[in-house]
Amino acid sequence: MHFQWYPGHMTKAKRQMQEDIKLIDLVIELVDARVPLSSRNPDIDELGRQKARLILMNKADLADEEQNQAWAAYFKEKGFFVVKLDARTKAGMKTISSVIMDACKEKIERDRRRGIKNRPVRAMVVGIPNVGKSTFINTYAGKACAKTGNKPGVTKGKQWIRLNKNVELLDTPGILWPKFEDQRVGLYLAFVGSIKDELLNIDELSLELIKILQANYPGVLAQRYEVVEEQTPAKVLQEIAGNRNCVKKGGELDYSKASALVIDEFRSGRLGKITLEFPRQQS
Ligand code: G4P
Repeated sequence: MHFQWYPGHMTKAKRQMQEDIKLIDLVIELVDARVPLSSRNPDIDELGRQKARLILMNKADLADEEQNQAWAAYFKEKGFFVVKLDARTKAGMKTISSVIMDACKEKIERDRRRGIKNRPVRAMVVGIPNVGKSTFINTYAGKACAKTGNKPGVTKGKQWIRLNKNVELLDTPGILWPKFEDQRVGLYLAFVGSIKDELLNIDELSLELIKILQANYPGVLAQRYEVVEEQTPAKVLQEIAGNRNCVKKGGELDYSKASALVIDEFRSGRLGKITLEFPRQQS
C-alpha cells in the first residue's frame, strides 16, 4: 500500500512549532495507545530538546491494558513522564496536573532560586492528526478556564488558557506529521483512522488487520463473527461477509462492505481492547 503526505503542510507546521516551543516549559505529546510509536513523530525529540516532556497515551480505553502498562514502562525508561488517558473523560485530569508539576520541578526550582514566585508552567499540546488533541484540550481546560490575552514578551496573537494557578496551556495544539518511512507505520495509522479513508484500499487493509489479530489476539475474530480463524485472511473475510450478510445486489459477497465492517468495529472498540504495536518488538 502506498501512502502520501503533504510536504507543504509539514514545513509550515514544523516552522510554527519551532516558534511555539520557544515559549513553553513543557511539551505534552499525545500518542495513540494502540500504536504508540507509529503515532509519534520522533522529530519532536529534537524540537522539544531541553523541555520537560510528558507523553499522554491517549485512547487507552481502546487498547489492551497489559500493553498499556508495558508501553508506559517503555516510555518512562526513556525519560518521559507518562499518563494513560481517555481524553473524553475528566477522570485522568487531576493526575495530569500533578504529573505536570513533577515534570517541571527543575524549572520551578530554578525560578525559586532566582526569586521568581508563582510563575505558571507553560505547556503546549502536540500530536499527529486525530490522536485526540482537541478533545484533550477541551476536557482538560473545561468551560471555567479563562483565556489570558496577549502579554508582553509573548508572540502577538498567542492565546493561553489558564488551567489553574500553576499551569497555562497554549490554546492551539501543534500538529505533528506522521513519519511514513516504514510502510508499517502507514498501515498502523490507517487502522486507527489517522489517515483519510479515501486514500486507502479498504480490502487490503482489512486483510492485514485480520492477519495481525490472528497472530496476536487469537479468538477475537472467531468470537465476534463466528468464523474459523485457522485459515487465510481472505477466507476469514469471506466467512465474515457471509455471516454478516454483506452481499451485493446479485447475491455476490461484498468484500468491501465486510472489510469496512471489520475496520469500523476495530476502531470503535467493538472487537475489544486491542493494541497493534508492541514494545517487545522495538529495539
Ligand atoms: P485531534 O484534535 O488530535 O485531531 O483529534 P480529536 O480531538 O478531534 O479526536 C479525534 C477523534 O478521537 C474524535 O472522535 C474523538 O472523540 C476521539 N477521541 C479522542 N480522545 C479519545 C479517547 O481517549 N478515547 C476514545 N475512545 N476516543 C477518543 P470522532 O469520531 O472524530 O468525533 P466524535 O464523533 O467523537 O465527536
